[in-house]
Amino acid sequence: MIKKCLFPAAGYGTRFLPATKAIPKEMLPVLTKPLLQYGVEEALSAGCEVMAIVTGRGKRAIEDHFDISYELEHQIKGTSKEHYLSEIRSIIERCTFTYVRQREMKGLGHAVLIGESLIGREESFAVILADDLCDNEEGKTVLYQMAEVHKRYPDKCVVAIEEVPLEETNKYGVIAGKEIEENVIAVEDMVEKPDPKDAPSNYAIIGRYILVPEIFDVLERTKPGKGGEVQITDALLELAKQGKVLAYKFKGRRFDCGSVDGFVEATSYFYKR
Ligand code: UTP
Repeated sequence: MIKKCLFPAAGYGTRFLPATKAIPKEMLPVLTKPLLQYGVEEALSAGCEVMAIVTGRGKRAIEDHFDISYELEHQIKGTSKEHYLSEIRSIIERCTFTYVRQREMKGLGHAVLIGESLIGREESFAVILADDLCDNEEGKTVLYQMAEVHKRYPDKCVVAIEEVPLEETNKYGVIAGKEIEENVIAVEDMVEKPDPKDAPSNYAIIGRYILVPEIFDVLERTKPGKGGEVQITDALLELAKQGKVLAYKFKGRRFDCGSVDGFVEATSYFYKR
């Protein structure tokens, strides 16, 4: 069972400026819920109880959201508005939130390494990038599906993938490998943001990972890669070469809420739903 979920949330969210000047990107709401709350609910659905959040400067709103607001609770207690807070209250009661700050934004791989102080090296853990918002109408969330795969292969990492148009491979980590069972691929190659002509496939990694603790050893020696950032893809490639990474074609939908188009699409989808 995966018990801990890491949420790298220290990025600047520059594609959403000026909205993200004072508000963390992860706190932007789709309907009435911030992106990060969707992510925490997904982690809970997969059995996680510890939510480990990597924050940065200007991200205090995240800690306040997952805490009791006595004044507000007192104000609406016994009124018709009380139910608006029941969902978040139940989340706060069901899990523990821990935080660490990433002082310099050196990339996703670096953010995961910073998270080690919250996660430890005892067990596999999940990683959710909350700006990738996922939904499965049948109720089995993407992380839940991945945890089921990991149960069958407990010594391997699992990354979620989806097919993207070939011309968009330069926005993602892209994998190649052999299908070993329905929807599960043993990863042999991985490239961060390849040009379409160099992409080994059109299977893009999305913001859901289950990682084995060994990833921390690898990240410690991973040099900055594409864009001068420490890339999680580069660290995973080292494990993939040892046969320790699986890619899972999840069932459901994903919205790239780090982009304005994806965010608008998600808002309209959840509103209709
Ligand atoms: P993104 O590149 O999508 O996020 O990183 P960003 O940098 O905030 O967005 P833009 O491109 O400037 O608009 C993917 C995830 O990794 C986290 C981000 O918070 C996001 O959830 N991240 C990225 C970190 O926590 N630390 C980093 O150094 C880089």
